[in-house]
Amino acid sequence: MSRMKETVLELRGSRATTELGRAFGMAAPAGAVISLIGPLGAGKTTFVQGLAQGLGVSQKCKVTSPTFTLIKEYEGRLRLYHVDAYRLSGAAEMAELGAEELFSSEGLVVIEWADRVVGVLPSRRVDIRLSHGGPSLRLARVTPVGRPGRWIRKALDEHGRVAGTANRSATASAMGDEEA
Ligand SMILES: Nc1ncnc2c1ncn2[C@@H]1O[C@H](COP(=O)(O)OP(=O)(O)OP(=O)(O)O)[C@@H](O)[C@H]1O
Ligand SMILES: [Mg+2]
Repeated sequence: MSRMKETVLELRGSRATTELGRAFGMAAPAGAVISLIGPLGAGKTTFVQGLAQGLGVSQKCKVTSPTFTLIKEYEGRLRLYHVDAYRLSGAAEMAELGAEELFSSEGLVVIEWADRVVGVLPSRRVDIRLSHGGPSLRLARVTPVGRPGRWIRKALDEHGRVAGTANRSATASAMGDEEA
């Protein structure tokens, strides 16, 4: 299986993180799975807030980390399942809690701290690694895993369109580095 290209984006300000989420929410097909990986405060929940916007979830529904429940659900163009694996002991616990059923749903599943439950993640998904690049800068590394489909390219194009030239050039240079 050929490994698809990674894309690195610079996100300046939390608005940029929301916009990235929104672009993914607009493009995602039923059954899509997004795994979010990154340290405390990297912008995972901010991304999910944008995802909800992109799916047309009512703005009255405040998206926050599902701290005391494993999963929060929101009604949109697709049903959004928002999982936070921070408090899980690992993949086995998530499997016990019904991961298989979740991943075969017709909704959109997004998992914060997905690296804690890697063993249970579907082989077809998109990994988004968020990291701190400075006080008001985050980096997002987007990696399609197992040929998840063309929608990821669509989402990245839409994000580039909204973010303007700053992000497009960052993307271009990141891709250029890989091809070099
Ligand atoms: N691109 C960005 N630039 C600057 N600040 C950002 C950016 N993206 C998000 N933030 C801010 O970082 C803070 C933490 O974001 P968020 O809660 O989404 O992180 P998280 O990864 O979900 O953290 P946790 O692991 O604690 O759940 C928020 O104040 C958010 O507005
Ligand atoms: Mg969070």
